[in-house]
Amino acid sequence: MKKGAKLYEGKAKKMYLTENPELLIQEFKDSATAFDGAKKGTIRGKGAINNQISAHLFRYLESYHIPTHFVRTLSDREMLVKKVEIIPVEVVVRNVVAGSLAKRLNEEEGRDLPEPLLEFYLKDDALHDPMITEEEILERGLATAQELEKIKRMALKVNAVLKDFFARRKLRLVDFKLEFGRHGGEILLADEISPDTCRLWDAETGERLDKDRFRRDLPGVVEAYREVHERVLGGPVV
Ligand SMILES: Nc1ncnc2c1ncn2[C@@H]1O[C@H](COP(=O)(O)OP(=O)(O)OP(=O)(O)O)[C@@H](O)[C@H]1O
Ligand SMILES: [Mg+2]
Repeated sequence: MKKGAKLYEGKAKKMYLTENPELLIQEFKDSATAFDGAKKGTIRGKGAINNQISAHLFRYLESYHIPTHFVRTLSDREMLVKKVEIIPVEVVVRNVVAGSLAKRLNEEEGRDLPEPLLEFYLKDDALHDPMITEEEILERGLATAQELEKIKRMALKVNAVLKDFFARRKLRLVDFKLEFGRHGGEILLADEISPDTCRLWDAETGERLDKDRFRRDLPGVVEAYREVHERVLGGPVV
């Protein structure tokens, strides 16, 4: 697949046009940002690691009949994806109290939630991605009621499938962020699923194996990403 013009460069990825107007090349970068872009850095090898983890997880989700934008891997840091019209809402699924939820509850991180929690954030850099309600999503016309129901169902199914997948690899899926888009009358899971977008804790030691190491200046950021890569692609340790 020939790489065409660069369509968009974000903080973690670049999107390129291809000769097929329905397809894009998603290239994963080593750069990392946190705290609304205030902290910037590089995680050496992250692009390739996240590309491969995302590819594996998209393929796995497809096997559970969850439609995704993934078409195929092109190189260690590139994948071919279906071009979607991104729904400008970040969907967060939480299984464990952590991050901004811990702050809001004024609670330590680590409590298992009785049921998964869904949250929605508006993708709008100028507004700093504020949290929004389902009613606001409908009121702003970001998605139809039907689309929102589908997105919620898909997000909870992704959670059920991935929670088990990670548990078998001795990883606790604390929370994660998803993006969805429209393509040919369908809603597809888009963007990426990686240690940049998931909180993953070692099931035994509780060690953080995700972007929180970068956010909090903890040592071993690259090693943590490599560890997740090994557990995801290597299959369950039995
Ligand atoms: N299949 C797709 N088709 C079109 N756009 C996509 C697709 N998958 C992901 N995107 C969008 O491509 C961009 C990927 O780049 P990146 O994740 O680096 O952006 P970002 O810096 O996080 O900024 P943004 O706030 O736009 O997400 C995102 O804007 C994402 O919403
Ligand atoms: Mg992004």
